[in-house]
Amino acid sequence: MEKAKATEEIKRLKKEVNYHRYLYHVLDRQEISDAALDSLKHRLKKLEDEFPEFASADSPTQRVAGRPLEKFTKVPHRTKMLSLNDAFSHDELRDWEKRLRRIDPRIKPEYFAEIKVDGFAVSLEYEHGKLIRASTRGDGQVGEEVTANVRTVEAIPLELLSTHDHQAAEVKKIFKDFPRVCQATKTIPRLLEVRGEIYMTKAAFLTVNQDQKKKNLPLYANPRNIAAGSIRQLDPKIAASRNLEFLAYDVVTDLNQATHEEGHLIAKVFGFKTMDLVKRAPSLDETIQFIMAIGEKREKLPFLIDGVVVQINHKRDFERLGIAGKAPRGAIAYKFPAAEATTVLKNIILQVGRRGTLTPVALLEPVGIGGVTVSRATLHNQAEIRRLGVKIGDTVVVERAGDVIPHVKSVLLRLRPKNAKEFRMPNHCPVCKKPVVQNPGEVAYRCVNPHCPAIHREGTYHFVSRRGFDIQGLGQKTIDVLLDQGLIQDAADLFVLKEGDIAVLERFGEKSAANIISSIQDRKRVPLSRFIYALGIPHVGEETALDLARRFGRLKQLAEASLGKLQAIPDVGEVVARSIYGWFRAPHAKNFLKKLDRVGVEAVGEKIKTSSARLKGKTFVLTGGLENLSRDAAKDKIRELGGEISGNVSKNTDFVVAGSDPGSKYEKARLLGVKIISEAEFLKLIG
Ligand code: IVH
Repeated sequence: MEKAKATEEIKRLKKEVNYHRYLYHVLDRQEISDAALDSLKHRLKKLEDEFPEFASADSPTQRVAGRPLEKFTKVPHRTKMLSLNDAFSHDELRDWEKRLRRIDPRIKPEYFAEIKVDGFAVSLEYEHGKLIRASTRGDGQVGEEVTANVRTVEAIPLELLSTHDHQAAEVKKIFKDFPRVCQATKTIPRLLEVRGEIYMTKAAFLTVNQDQKKKNLPLYANPRNIAAGSIRQLDPKIAASRNLEFLAYDVVTDLNQATHEEGHLIAKVFGFKTMDLVKRAPSLDETIQFIMAIGEKREKLPFLIDGVVVQINHKRDFERLGIAGKAPRGAIAYKFPAAEATTVLKNIILQVGRRGTLTPVALLEPVGIGGVTVSRATLHNQAEIRRLGVKIGDTVVVERAGDVIPHVKSVLLRLRPKNAKEFRMPNHCPVCKKPVVQNPGEVAYRCVNPHCPAIHREGTYHFVSRRGFDIQGLGQKTIDVLLDQGLIQDAADLFVLKEGDIAVLERFGEKSAANIISSIQDRKRVPLSRFIYALGIPHVGEETALDLARRFGRLKQLAEASLGKLQAIPDVGEVVARSIYGWFRAPHAKNFLKKLDRVGVEAVGEKIKTSSARLKGKTFVLTGGLENLSRDAAKDKIRELGGEISGNVSKNTDFVVAGSDPGSKYEKARLLGVKIISEAEFLKLIG
């Protein structure tokens, strides 16, 4: 290619890559797949290699630049990077307002409140629109230069957007409502310093920790630690591998903005991602309402926040109030009640799961965490107990984050009593007393006794569950009573229960007994796929059960299928095939099936009504919470339209439907370039 053409092409590609980066990271939208974007970058890189004279530092290919640094350079901050005082209650916020009024009765009580992202603060300096330096807070006066690492964060523009680059409706509206913002962004300023938070989403955090686990490396305590650790280390390749995000919260440079809000908007117009969850409030009461609303939403957000920053919106007022110690008087950080508390770990017991897995559970001195009383917390497994170094009698920090079950986060060693006792994994199942095993390559210990009552109990819960036999009104508590009273030994016994058996039990009347019996009898005949799923064969989830049902049509055929025949089914690999084959040949399973047959339980042929073939051949993965329909309804709908559902994202996945707070599947889809659609898009797709 000749030079003139090459520079043109490089320019065009740079612009295009940058446009998609901006869409994805700043506006949360996507027009082309990740793979397509990668190939654009690749083309750009090739051209730049061929014509090095046209390569430049602001090129999207330069985000990971070469070799690790030897050490960080110190950078004095032009404007100090301050910290914030905290408020832990609404009363403390009101006290703060009173204090301000006393100091300066003239200030206008107009507040600007925004979420406080739990990440790592950086200051970004742009000269003539190009990112020239990024620094950490350090001691507030002098930070460390971390430009090479920060460049790898795709949400951070290497070059500011100029106004004519994007005449989006939103920006037009900003200009109309805020003439000073329009003025401030008309030309690219010689100097612009923007501050914000580098952070990691909950989903990316989970992925990193899953990876660590696989590699037998220590787990990270929280997303903030990874964000900070990724920026404060010397190798940009590591920073680049971490999927870091950025949100801007302050424009330090004076561009004649009158309020903090205008600062946010200026940052937005220049191409930064800014917080959506903000509120200009004309009174403290309204500010507090906003804080409460955020408190409700908090757990559903895709990233962690630890509070809300409230500040006096008008810059003149803010500055007049000045600084006290290390924090500005005109701002305060409202901190949500911690989802963490300390308490004494009284004992460690073992729970036996459906697969026989032994999970150590900490019994705690009951403690209130974020509004609920917690008396148990999971310790995951023996390896985690070792990692924490926890002993019985220790004072521990317990965390209850989002919808995850409470877990022991750390141990306060200085508070350890003399008689603290080490926990030892027993050699025998705590329930059936048979030996436990640890399979090679597995962290978990298991009870492998097929007759273990604990495994039966879990298996029975599973059998009657909604995606299994779906027996209405038969919850875990009822099953516990039936098992404990010896009225049933397994799920098959349910079908021969009589009203009188239940009506005499405590907590049950005649009416509820009759209801339970009739809902059990209603479910004597279920579709084969449910039947297979309910058996709880290891590795056979709902989708596999459906595949097997379609393939074999009858239980007998499945039970007698050879290994080869099982393996020939798409999506059934060797491990799954062996598991199915082995299960049907185990004596306890054979007995159970015989018993089910004797009591008149029957699998009926699959009726899969496909109303159209609109989604034929398309594979879907669902992740995160859906708002307008249940997950089960979504799955049914997909099947009805001829589509398939998978539990794992792979190259063969056609769509990942991402609801709120999506999990690691979302990240995986991104990595693989699988099309990710929102719930709204999904609804459109299924009509
Ligand atoms: S304003 C004078 N706004 O919280 C300091 N800070 O405790 C101005 N942070 O160092 C900070 N989200 O790392 C501000 N929306 C937000 C924030 C935020 C997170 C962090 C930031 C700051 C620390 C102060």
